[in-house]
Amino acid sequence: MAQTLEGILSYPSMDAGEAKEALNRAVAIVKENLGTFTDHFQSSNSFNGFYQPTENVEWTTGFWTGVIWLAYEATGNENFRKAAEIQVESFLERIQKKIDVNHHDMGFLFSLSCVAAYKLTGNEHGKKAALLAADHLAERYREKGKFLQAWGNVGEPREYRLIIDCLLNLPLLYWASEVTGEPRYGQMAENHIRTAMKCILRPDHSTYHTHFIDIETGEPTYGVTHQGNRNGSAWARGQAWGVYGIALSYRYLKEASYIDLFCKVTDYFLCHLPEDLIPYWDFDFDTGSTEPRDSSAAAIAVCGMLEMAKYLDEERAAYYRQAACRMLRALIDQCGNRDIRQSNGLLLHGTYARDSKENTCANRGVDECNTWGDYFYMEALTRMVKDWKLYW
Ligand code: GLY
Repeated sequence: MAQTLEGILSYPSMDAGEAKEALNRAVAIVKENLGTFTDHFQSSNSFNGFYQPTENVEWTTGFWTGVIWLAYEATGNENFRKAAEIQVESFLERIQKKIDVNHHDMGFLFSLSCVAAYKLTGNEHGKKAALLAADHLAERYREKGKFLQAWGNVGEPREYRLIIDCLLNLPLLYWASEVTGEPRYGQMAENHIRTAMKCILRPDHSTYHTHFIDIETGEPTYGVTHQGNRNGSAWARGQAWGVYGIALSYRYLKEASYIDLFCKVTDYFLCHLPEDLIPYWDFDFDTGSTEPRDSSAAAIAVCGMLEMAKYLDEERAAYYRQAACRMLRALIDQCGNRDIRQSNGLLLHGTYARDSKENTCANRGVDECNTWGDYFYMEALTRMVKDWKLYW
């Protein structure tokens, strides 16, 4: 059954005081985690509620460093800053030695760790690492089709595609243009989002997760899912990447047509929420389903709505802010971890990947915490308590 605005508004709202309490609970858990996760990073998802230590690999380690920076902002405690700075050195080494970076997720990795370090403390190694990462990402730009190739070796015909998640990698390029004065980074990002919007948005305003591009003509060919339930369904986190990704490009480009795109993609997300406002992992599933939830999708969408509300007319801004406050309250109530003995994560009930007939994923991190869910939950809470200056 379609969700309505009245349905969303019937969930209790929240105020800055409640957000601050939830943020304090999260910061206390982060503090306890520093001993294990300073010289190591957190695994992408928890196992039976607990993250395991890993090296600086995969696309997800920047979220934990971003969480530490948010804890530093919330408290001013130098222990957080010192831990985050140790991790910035790890990111510099990672990009210099090109460790596990043959993919497009440079924004997820370097915006929240290294750009954050530079913006918050003027850390020059953070700036250096993030600019190297922007250069590396720029190498994935394909002139034929005007997009950033997500995965695999660049130019590989079987991998000639973009994915919706990449919208969150674009701010690294916008930032690189601002810092260097070289427009080429931002132009690639602008071209990428134009191509992406041409192909991933369906007529009903749901989105494809991934879309192939013809390597000869540069024209979009067909969309398929990677992590969604069906090729034609809306993977909840993919739709959320769309919500926040469009808002972030609007922040940098102020392209008027993105307002309409944002509203369409976000309204689809809101209309397909179940009664308790915590999305199932794919919008094929609704209230009463026994399928797992993906709390991280809600946290990402909340951040996107709070960001975009800054630029909308009063009526629409109020609508998205009200929806975001209810969703965040639902996350605090139903998914916020209150007991470090039950989990060392911050946001329970996420899903990294769920096996289905039409995707190629194995079950991974099902009904577990994941590092990006934790990060966006903390970012959303931080946005509620102050006028937060973005790391993106
Ligand atoms: N960007 C990969 C994911 O959302 O799982």
